[in-house]
Amino acid sequence: MPAYSNRVDLAFLRQCKSQRRKFAMLTAYDHPTAVAAQAAGVHSLLVGDSMGAVILGHPNTRSVPLALMITLAEAVRRGAPDVYLVGDMPFESMSAGNEAVIRAALRFRDDAGCDAVKLETAAQHDALVAKLSRAGIETIAHLGLRPQSVLNPDGYKAQARDEGAVAELVADARRMESAGAAMLLLEAVPAEAASAVVAAVSVPVIGCGAGPACDGHVVVTHDLLGWGATRPPRFVPVLASLGETVRSAMAEYVQQIATGTYPGPEHAYSMRAAVAAS
Ligand code: KIV
Repeated sequence: MPAYSNRVDLAFLRQCKSQRRKFAMLTAYDHPTAVAAQAAGVHSLLVGDSMGAVILGHPNTRSVPLALMITLAEAVRRGAPDVYLVGDMPFESMSAGNEAVIRAALRFRDDAGCDAVKLETAAQHDALVAKLSRAGIETIAHLGLRPQSVLNPDGYKAQARDEGAVAELVADARRMESAGAAMLLLEAVPAEAASAVVAAVSVPVIGCGAGPACDGHVVVTHDLLGWGATRPPRFVPVLASLGETVRSAMAEYVQQIATGTYPGPEHAYSMRAAVAAS
């Protein structure tokens, strides 16, 4: 795993790519997750609009307010000052036109300390990516499955599964690179499609369920930790069962209160000596 002792920046991630060393990205929406991720050596954190579904309980990612994304990105940056921090452009801004996206990107960078913004891009977004790039904003173009276009949970389907669709994906990837995208993110595409994209562009490509050819990989942290309310997609390595750990600790708490084991003397404050003596 490429270690980092200084703040991770785009140059570091490009170097990982050129040296064929893979980098790790996770989502984070809060301070303690950010602290743990940086301590674990995670290179990049994404304040993803997946939070709409994961922590707000909405059926899709569309109802995430920009103001909330900025507040949580600030918390993540406080917890992980050295990671490459990415703010996800919410639907609220994407649907309000290019100027709104640029204003939001500046808030992610200047208020929250993000290094980059990620945008779910279609072919027509090349002008927007070019504008962001000219404004000095590092932009990640998200291709393949784009959750902001999916309105209910069974709409999440793998993309680019035939030759024609792979050719289209490669063309979109090239267009985004030419427009100035600093990196690409491919979600839910076959390994062959991701390999074709990696071979066609020179910027780092992040995979989210896109096979081994990608330069770095991202999954939703709640899925990785077994802490989500929904079943994780098949590409996620579920490496813990936090949901079970939390449920059993809470059940134990309920039990201790019911039986009077809690609070015990070790949880109580004592009176000051003088007061106690009087
Ligand atoms: O919002 C998000 O968490 C994402 C990742 C799943 C790539 O876009």
